[in-house]
Amino acid sequence: MTAAPPSAAYLYERVRRVIPPIEWSSFTNDIEAILALKRERKAVILAHNYQTPEIFHCVADIVGDSLALARNAMEVDADVIVLAGVHFMAETAKLLNPQKTVLIPDLGAGCSLADSITAEDIRLLRQRYPGVPIVTYVNTSAEVKAESDICCTSGNAKAVVESLGVARVIMLPDEYLAQNIAAQTDVEIIAWQGHCEVHERFTPADIRQLREDHPGVSVLAHPECPPEVVAEADFSGSTAAMSDYVGREKPARVVLMTECSMSDNVAVAHPEVDFIRPCNLCPHMKRITLANIRSALEENRHLVTIDPQVADRARQAVERMLAI
Ligand code: 13P
Ligand code: SF4
Repeated sequence: MTAAPPSAAYLYERVRRVIPPIEWSSFTNDIEAILALKRERKAVILAHNYQTPEIFHCVADIVGDSLALARNAMEVDADVIVLAGVHFMAETAKLLNPQKTVLIPDLGAGCSLADSITAEDIRLLRQRYPGVPIVTYVNTSAEVKAESDICCTSGNAKAVVESLGVARVIMLPDEYLAQNIAAQTDVEIIAWQGHCEVHERFTPADIRQLREDHPGVSVLAHPECPPEVVAEADFSGSTAAMSDYVGREKPARVVLMTECSMSDNVAVAHPEVDFIRPCNLCPHMKRITLANIRSALEENRHLVTIDPQVADRARQAVERMLAI
């Protein structure tokens, strides 16, 4: 006799403030199937903070920012890792778990930053700036990481830059992250001109309007936002740092200048905080759905693979970051 599939009903309590009942009924079948498949396949789901609440709160085993997902990817006890996030995150999980099956539910889940630079660009930069270390944001392909000295995320970029003990570094591909870090350190930073298509759309005028419409609102901005946006915000940090800020400071009203699902996910844990929700959708993150997570586990797709020669060098850059 096969065991009855786990019921999703108890999970609704977690998300009822952000998912209306009518929408919830369309999720339960996939949630129950995914919970059963995870047990069957000894699989874990790692989900980024930008995943929708039914993924983030109902099927994910580990959630967090890019840094937390990379760290946790190293320690998971599972045969299969499903990465509910974008492709570079799945590649990072594979780099750190070469023996495990790593699946991404939709191969089209890319990133405008990762698309903004190639390995060849980095080789040219090395010729142009001989001896200057290259700090590469994790939002890049494994090929780009393989050409780099060390990786960073938005959660550790300043510490990584300062750990190198040099006066000048190249930091790529996010121009705004590089400029925002440059404002916090004495290290000279040479930037690339990549941008996040989600965060580059926020403007200082948006913040002024929000403050006018919602007096007293705390404004939190991701460091992929332009520096003039970060300058007008009350706080800037990675997605995890923004979430921690809300938990620690418990502002009466808050706005997160970042991807849309972030507010929904953080709001679940903080019913006392009023979230004002202008946001920009990341079309890449939104390619991941319950339906394709289920198919990923049922059909073992899409397998994330990395050329072993690229992987060895890219892994070193990620491991150097994690050692800091
Ligand atoms: P975090 O590392 O802050 O989670 O950011 C990842 C990302 O893609 C933001 O756009
Ligand atoms: Fe890339 Fe921006 Fe989407 Fe993050 S939000 S995955 S940086 S496009």
